[in-house]
Amino acid sequence: MIPPKDKLTLCFAHVAYDFVPQFAKRNTGINCFQVWNREDLDKRVGEADVLVISGFWQNALAEKAAKLKFIQSIGAGTDQFGRDVLQAKGVRLASASGVNVRAVSEHAMSLILALARRLPEARDNQHKHHWRGMIGDLTQREDELGGKTLVIVGLGNIGGRLAQLAKAFDMKVIGVRRDPSAGKGAADSVHAISELKSLLPQADIVALTCPLTKETENLIDADALGRMKKSAYLINAARGKVVNEAALIQTMKSGAIAGAGIDVTPEEPLPAASPLWDLPNTFITPHTAGETRKYEDNVLDILQDNLARLWKGEAKLRNQIV
Ligand code: GLV
Repeated sequence: MIPPKDKLTLCFAHVAYDFVPQFAKRNTGINCFQVWNREDLDKRVGEADVLVISGFWQNALAEKAAKLKFIQSIGAGTDQFGRDVLQAKGVRLASASGVNVRAVSEHAMSLILALARRLPEARDNQHKHHWRGMIGDLTQREDELGGKTLVIVGLGNIGGRLAQLAKAFDMKVIGVRRDPSAGKGAADSVHAISELKSLLPQADIVALTCPLTKETENLIDADALGRMKKSAYLINAARGKVVNEAALIQTMKSGAIAGAGIDVTPEEPLPAASPLWDLPNTFITPHTAGETRKYEDNVLDILQDNLARLWKGEAKLRNQIV
């Protein structure tokens, strides 16, 4: 059981999201504080009954977090939290799934449009004051999305919303998800992950919106990339490790696919010396797909719902992971 409202201490741990003022507006009377870096988190994690955290989490913190009963993840992805570690300590975990559905799906669509409309090149040319001429080569010219086939890997809330957006552009949408019986939503068809490789040759665009799990780690390997059309684009709004890094480097360097739009990388922040920065036809955004000005409020809605459930002794949390 978590302590009653008047005895509870909440710790918000994030480098940028400013939770305390947003939480104060809700007049809960709950004692809370924010830490902005790992050092302060290390010092103060022992004070927290409830931790609201994402990228700062490391499993070693569980040892120091003597009072900890519940973690509300700030992110939709929860791959950094060791399920066994938390279970062993009796700490519950809920994801923030849903908070960034619009943001990530809109970002994925932006990456698709940016590649199809050659926006990164236009921006580079603008810096050089260069007005590029029209392109005769049909393999290189700007293109339209209607009639193109989009394969979405991960047809959860985010992938499902991306399917809706893509249908508005008259694309053909093929969804791939762990449990196809969960439905196809706006997609034209839905398939199991085991069918992905056989579907890849049809794809004009492959968009990754799946969680990082044992099943999805390295899912897009050299074999998968090798099955894509030379004209195809890969969009990664999931996790860097869903794509095999060496295979991506090789694929982009050899021009085996036409473009990559990636918001996530295996190591983040992406080290300055990483070869990914300079890959041809590759457009990188710095894990900003989920960013929205509504972020803090969206997380606080889930947090408050989960606190209410914990106080009532309900077994099931919203977005429960552990
Ligand atoms: C962002 O990547 C998230 O997991 O919410």
